[in-house]
Amino acid sequence: MKSLREPLSIGRVAIPSRFFLAPLAGYTSLAMRLTIRERGGLGLATTDLINARAILEKRPRTFELAETCDEDRPLAIQIYGHVIDEMCRAARWVVEHGATIVDINMGCPVNKVVKTGGGSALMCQADSATRLVEAVVNAVEVPVTVKMRLGWDDANLSAPALARSFEKVGAAAVIIHGRTREQGFKGDVNRDGIKAVVDAVHSIPVVGNGDIRTLHDAETMFRETGCAAISIGRGALSNPFLFRQLAHWVEHGHPGPEPTFDERVDTMVTHFHRLHERRGERHACFQFRKILKWYSHAIRPKKELYHQLINLDSIQIFDETVEAIREAGPSSPIPGHFEPKVPVPSGPIDKW
Ligand SMILES: Cc1cc2nc3c(=O)[nH]c(=O)nc-3n(C[C@H](O)[C@H](O)[C@H](O)COP(=O)(O)O)c2cc1C
Repeated sequence: MKSLREPLSIGRVAIPSRFFLAPLAGYTSLAMRLTIRERGGLGLATTDLINARAILEKRPRTFELAETCDEDRPLAIQIYGHVIDEMCRAARWVVEHGATIVDINMGCPVNKVVKTGGGSALMCQADSATRLVEAVVNAVEVPVTVKMRLGWDDANLSAPALARSFEKVGAAAVIIHGRTREQGFKGDVNRDGIKAVVDAVHSIPVVGNGDIRTLHDAETMFRETGCAAISIGRGALSNPFLFRQLAHWVEHGHPGPEPTFDERVDTMVTHFHRLHERRGERHACFQFRKILKWYSHAIRPKKELYHQLINLDSIQIFDETVEAIREAGPSSPIPGHFEPKVPVPSGPIDKW
């Protein structure tokens, strides 16, 4: 895999590896990004999507979503909206607040985002989408990237033509989730569709995304699409060590040693305490219930200890339970792999 060792840059920003953390609204907080970065191998992280207008209205939630620090670099802050002036002003704001890269969301299928003309709705309006990208590129000094799906539906696979237009107006990379808006999160990722985007652009990096959970999935994405980098969302939740394993694989041809039980417990503890430091006890306990499942798959605590954590309401109980988990060790063999059950919208797409 010689080419994966070659340096990668997005615009003028050097990116330390070709393995990126995809934005996952509700999960990819600063606490999670730092925790994953420390495990090693991560090239670029992206924040949850942030509404451009909410930034301009200074809504408190946007400050939380855009929160970052020096160790959280390089970082793409993702914004969405369709009003050019708002997007440009929001882009300047996120750069002032630490974005190494501004990422424009054109992939979000959720109705709340689409009905405002943002997210994947933009993929249906090539001219306005291109004008928007051009304006944001001209508004900031840092590289601007676009994350999108393959198109609205199978009859409208607009990503290759859009990517070519975005490159012409100065976009520094595109990230492609290999599904259409109509597919939502169902069906297989269309790697031929991602390859068509790779073939369509002249020289900017194309980042392949969708259903990468293992080294094998990563290798398949690189080989079948010719993409320059990959972006991993849900796979990072089930295995925060995946980036380190991929980096090791590129250097040595294998993923290196499996993370130990202690490393897995330490990762969970670090993640939890970061949530606590940033957002207080109540938020940390509440958020932790959402993420405990992934950690418990990899740690295998005894049933009663798991229940103590799922009903968590204080730091003290967390610390005491973790001590008990460390003492007891895993209650059954740790699986090499599992599929995370991350809630994704389901049912008729127009109701999302
Ligand atoms: C819960 C959840 C939240 C997401 N939030 C965002 C988001 O804020 N911005 C975005 O561009 N994509 C978002 N996505 C899409 C992911 O970034 C990614 O494209 C998709 O999950 C496929 O990659 P994966 O199979 O590696 O998860 C989200 C996906 C999920 C499941």
